[in-house]
Amino acid sequence: MEVIIVDTPANIGTIVADTVSDLFDSTDAPTLGLATGSSPLPVYAELIRRHRAGTVSFKGATMFLLDEYVGLPAEHPQSNRSFIRREFVDHIDVRPAAVHYPAGAVDDPAAGRRYEERIAAAGGIDLQLLGVGRNGHIGFNEPTSSLGSRTRRTTLTAATRADNARFFDSPEEVPRHVLTQGIGTILEARRLVLVAAGGVKADAVAAAVEGPLTAMCPASALQLHPHATVVVDRRAAANLCCADYYRSVYRQGLGRAAGA
Ligand code: F6R
Repeated sequence: MEVIIVDTPANIGTIVADTVSDLFDSTDAPTLGLATGSSPLPVYAELIRRHRAGTVSFKGATMFLLDEYVGLPAEHPQSNRSFIRREFVDHIDVRPAAVHYPAGAVDDPAAGRRYEERIAAAGGIDLQLLGVGRNGHIGFNEPTSSLGSRTRRTTLTAATRADNARFFDSPEEVPRHVLTQGIGTILEARRLVLVAAGGVKADAVAAAVEGPLTAMCPASALQLHPHATVVVDRRAAANLCCADYYRSVYRQGLGRAAGA
């Protein structure tokens, strides 16, 4: 795993936007996996800036959103679909029909399978952006999710509902159920880039990068991936035992060659 420690969330935005820009330079039809939440916002802001400056175009891209609340109308301002449109998709030149959102009614057990079929039909995901919950979740795969799980309906923990209450008018409004790419699905993306900022993420980042591989920390599944990069600010890196090593590898420009 490659671990990059930077000073600020804005630095996270620049580094990850470089990675995304490189992907878009290398292929005409890239497929990007999108996450919502606060963590990737500096990445989206930087990509929008580059798009407006004319240095990156998303015209040929296909995009897949990682997860969605179940039972919330798609047009609800706090649906993940509305969030990603507001923060990213509506500001770039991606074709609206090329952006895919997980969706399914509460009683639709086939919604996950249908979403996986769309990912497969697109040839899989080239680069999946991820945040991490304080409890180590990725997507909405909460602790004890199977490391082989597929896209499915699942249930949020009370802790995640409380964390996400900041986006809603009241805590009771946060849906209990979600449709999320599974951990097994996420691991099939050709590249994973997880971003985290702030001291509240320090325990989750340390558990993901240096802890045991365990369903109790879904983000630890990144240890199984041959091309996973974790980009964190200083505060989110505070509990990493090998921080000096990661910094020296990155300074030498060796990246995965030494840090993988
Ligand atoms: C959202 C998602 C979640 C978030 C995680 C961190 O699509 O997949 O796993 O990445 O809850 O959220 P923030 O970034 O708001 O702390």
